[in-house]
Amino acid sequence: MTPLSFSMLRILSDGKFHSGEEIAKTLGVSRSSAWNAAKSIEEAGLALFRVKGRGYRLEKAFEWLDRGKIVRMLGRHPLDIEILDEIDSTNSELLKRNGPHGKVVAAELQTMGRGRMGKPWVGEPGGSLTFSLAWKFDRGAGFLSGLSLAVGIALARAMKDCGIEGIKLKWPNDVLYNFHKLAGTLIEVKGDMLGPTLAVIGIGINFSLSDKAKESIDQAVIGIESMPVDNPGRNRLLSAILARLCDVLEIFEKSGFSPFKEEWSCLNAYDSKPVRVKLPSGKVEEGTLFGLSDNGEILIDSKHGRLAFASGEVSLRGIS
Ligand code: BTN
Repeated sequence: MTPLSFSMLRILSDGKFHSGEEIAKTLGVSRSSAWNAAKSIEEAGLALFRVKGRGYRLEKAFEWLDRGKIVRMLGRHPLDIEILDEIDSTNSELLKRNGPHGKVVAAELQTMGRGRMGKPWVGEPGGSLTFSLAWKFDRGAGFLSGLSLAVGIALARAMKDCGIEGIKLKWPNDVLYNFHKLAGTLIEVKGDMLGPTLAVIGIGINFSLSDKAKESIDQAVIGIESMPVDNPGRNRLLSAILARLCDVLEIFEKSGFSPFKEEWSCLNAYDSKPVRVKLPSGKVEEGTLFGLSDNGEILIDSKHGRLAFASGEVSLRGIS
């Protein structure tokens, strides 16, 4: 979206009608430029009504990410939070900037959001919460196996803090509600084998998804707005997640994944279920999900015995 479209979206975000004339005057542009800006808002996935004689109105009011609100709700914390209108990917941005430690970048819109296993992450302005946190660990990348599971614990705890009950986790890092994907984490690391290591922890959470967005995603997805819970709003959820992440990461950097293993196991959506694991090599293994090893590998009871995997994608057999 162009900067002009974001300015127009700021005017329209109250969910009320605004005439083309008023918008053009406020922004100091022609009415046809305002018309083009409206078109780019629609192309980004927002539903906009145009009514002759009344002007433009968003289908629903838009809650902007607000650094001041987030910082106030977070209280004392070691983070440096930045909110951007648009960026290719918040993960790519923090990798490019090399962190630094404790830096958070959240964006209203990612033009090239990235998911795990080379998949895109689809989100629309206001319809998702997309952000990344940079965290420096003194140890090498090998120590970080299990980090994405610990991040899942932080997400589940924060959602509970915000009144979102019924959350489950799918190994290694999906947050599920009713077996539908609500959120995902992409962790990318930079550093030497022996450390220190910069981990960029990227999180995407669905709030609302248009039919077009749902069609482009190859699995069952859900947004907070269609769940039977009170929507806490993106600012409150982001501050709750950042608070929980700081706690979890401090424990993780001292003791690794094992302090979280039991909690994770209780939240395991596919516990004792028949599953299929697609390995990064493309090979597929089938079996019954047994649980987790101490460092967060998934354990599957297969016809070849108990197998442990450190990476891959798990699906329920008979579903997808
Ligand atoms: C997945 O489930 O596949 C992981 C999704 C991770 C998406 C987030 S959105 C913020 C951050 N920036 C990205 O480009 N990806 C992550």
